[in-house]
Amino acid sequence: MSSNEQTLSVKNLLGIKDLTASDIDLIFKTAAEFKEVLQRPIKKVPTLRDTTIVNLFYENSTRTKISFELAEKRLGADVVNFAASSSSLSKGETLIDTVRNILCMKVDMVVMRHSASGAPHFLSKHIDAAIINAGDGTNEHPTQALLDSFSMHEKHGSLKGKKVAIIGDIAHSRVALSNIFCLKKLGAEVLVAGPPTLIPKHIASLGVDVTYNVNEALAWCDIANVLRIQLERQDMPLFSSLREYSLQFGITKAMLDGLDKEITLMHPGPINRGVELSSDAADSGQSIILDQVQNGVAVRMAVLYLLASGKK
Ligand code: CP
Repeated sequence: MSSNEQTLSVKNLLGIKDLTASDIDLIFKTAAEFKEVLQRPIKKVPTLRDTTIVNLFYENSTRTKISFELAEKRLGADVVNFAASSSSLSKGETLIDTVRNILCMKVDMVVMRHSASGAPHFLSKHIDAAIINAGDGTNEHPTQALLDSFSMHEKHGSLKGKKVAIIGDIAHSRVALSNIFCLKKLGAEVLVAGPPTLIPKHIASLGVDVTYNVNEALAWCDIANVLRIQLERQDMPLFSSLREYSLQFGITKAMLDGLDKEITLMHPGPINRGVELSSDAADSGQSIILDQVQNGVAVRMAVLYLLASGKK
């Protein structure tokens, strides 16, 4: 890769909070090069040959897990997949013991998803292998934010001054927090929208504006990134029903068609069709949801490659 003289300012990717704007720029440039590689008939490069990576997923995932595994394999790494449900976790083994046992089998990097906020940060204090956070509780999901911003950049060019609305369950979303950090570092204007019960009171301190009116958010933005209601992280009801949520905050194609401009529609997945997005909106020409997923592989290849280069 031609960007290989530069390295990231971090040893682990725990959160976007820790990255500089130059780090993000380097990840985007490297991802664009890998995206070109992925268009070739032979999509594999031997860049991470002899590097062993374990994917440690303590929480369910479709996109992130498959995307990391593809990224690792396309870089020629040796890949081990760990699923908490079939591990010795059920016999009482701790996180640190699990990881130390895996690492003594000569593993170089750990990709980790965990339902506890801060789990990868805790682990990073105890092991030398590079750690990539694949989503920790309600804290951060850095590679999702990177692929989201990369996809916005691909469609709209520089994000400086672009208006991005993040709509939905902001309070329980690690995607929201990582997106806010990433977009602000790239100079975008950010508005969060949703029910008052799903927007944390402190959110304005991150430099974002707030509205409780989804139509106002759509009229304001160039790009709408719509988030899922995370019922699994809510220990008490925060709105009366999904139907009511859908009526007040759900986005339909008719709403998009009623705007005086064409906005870009995004969603990190999984989509609850008929709740935060109608099917005709999710599948419309304005949606870049599957481009986001496709870009995820190149972005994760870039992160893996740059963190591995930094270790050498
Ligand atoms: N966007 C996202 O993190 O999806 P998964 O939970 O399927 O990985």
